[in-house]
Amino acid sequence: MTTYEHIPVLLNEVIEYLDPKPGHNFVDATLGGGGYTKAILDKNQPDGKVLAIDLDEDAIENFKLQISNAKHPHPGPLPEGEGRAQIVQGNFSHIDKIVTHHKFDNISGIVADIGLSSYELEHRGMSFQEKQPLDMRFDQSQKADAKFILNNYDETRLRKIFEDYGEEKFSRQIARKIQESRSKNQIHYTTELYQIIQDALPKPVKHKADDSARRIFQALRIEVNHELNNLQEFLPKAFDLLNTGGRLVVVSFHSLEDRIVKQFFVKLTQGCVCPIDFPQCLCGKNPQGKILTKKLVSASQEELDHNPRSKSAKLRAIIKI
Ligand SMILES: C[S@@+](CC[C@H](N)C(=O)[O-])C[C@H]1O[C@@H](n2cnc3c(N)ncnc32)[C@H](O)[C@@H]1O
Repeated sequence: MTTYEHIPVLLNEVIEYLDPKPGHNFVDATLGGGGYTKAILDKNQPDGKVLAIDLDEDAIENFKLQISNAKHPHPGPLPEGEGRAQIVQGNFSHIDKIVTHHKFDNISGIVADIGLSSYELEHRGMSFQEKQPLDMRFDQSQKADAKFILNNYDETRLRKIFEDYGEEKFSRQIARKIQESRSKNQIHYTTELYQIIQDALPKPVKHKADDSARRIFQALRIEVNHELNNLQEFLPKAFDLLNTGGRLVVVSFHSLEDRIVKQFFVKLTQGCVCPIDFPQCLCGKNPQGKILTKKLVSASQEELDHNPRSKSAKLRAIIKI
């Protein structure tokens, strides 16, 4: 594995909203380069624990290596379970099973930084800047990659993915061009897909091919990794696992994901759902959470200057009551 690189986004804000305290336990649902996990371990020492999950074996290996190289002094020795950091390869949509399996309980906070790391962007065919095989999988043991989807999904299904997950205006033309192109030769590389996108665009907008390609690549990545479904499954399970007073913090990079988080949080704050003309409440529902981020939290100018990839990051946090 080449060096695993990722600059954590909204790190100070995540720590502020997660509020880790000594002796408290936390789940980092998306380990990545381990930026959040390390910051939590700094705050919850001497005996607080972190269970960190990632789908990507390279992220797991990288972090285990960091710990064993003792660059970070706080986690105890591996193998997992023996120290303060437990590192688990898995899907956060199964967070309930993962914490049960690892006997991890008494959880004060859960954080998820949804999306891809810089390492994945550069090594998994998720960007059109370089010629790479069209992979896009976070989990390298998963069968279907982007190449499979591009060469096997029918034109209508591709168009819908581009519309729904990429909000691409020229989805129809691009899906048609993919169909034409693959009927001659299978599509294997990022650069081939970029060329197809450029060819599909009407002449006056061909110079905007990079914008369309960004949206199409994003849409494919979301489809390959079932990103929206995973998030939808994760949120209620994560909230259920929290202690009263526990916090759930989610950083997302896409308006579709942010909408899912926002709607889920709002639902948790709602109490009685009886029709207003009922003389008294019959549903017995009480609010389960209080939103901590009245306004969406995004990157400061200082962070943007230092890490332009933080531009689309949006943080939301809720506390269980
Ligand atoms: C933006 S990075 C996290 C960076 C991390 N917060 C840090 O400070 O370095 C997102 C990570 O989430 C992982 N990931 C994406 N979907 C996942 C899922 N459903 N379950 C577990 N990990 C997932 C990716 O493999 C990636 O490593």
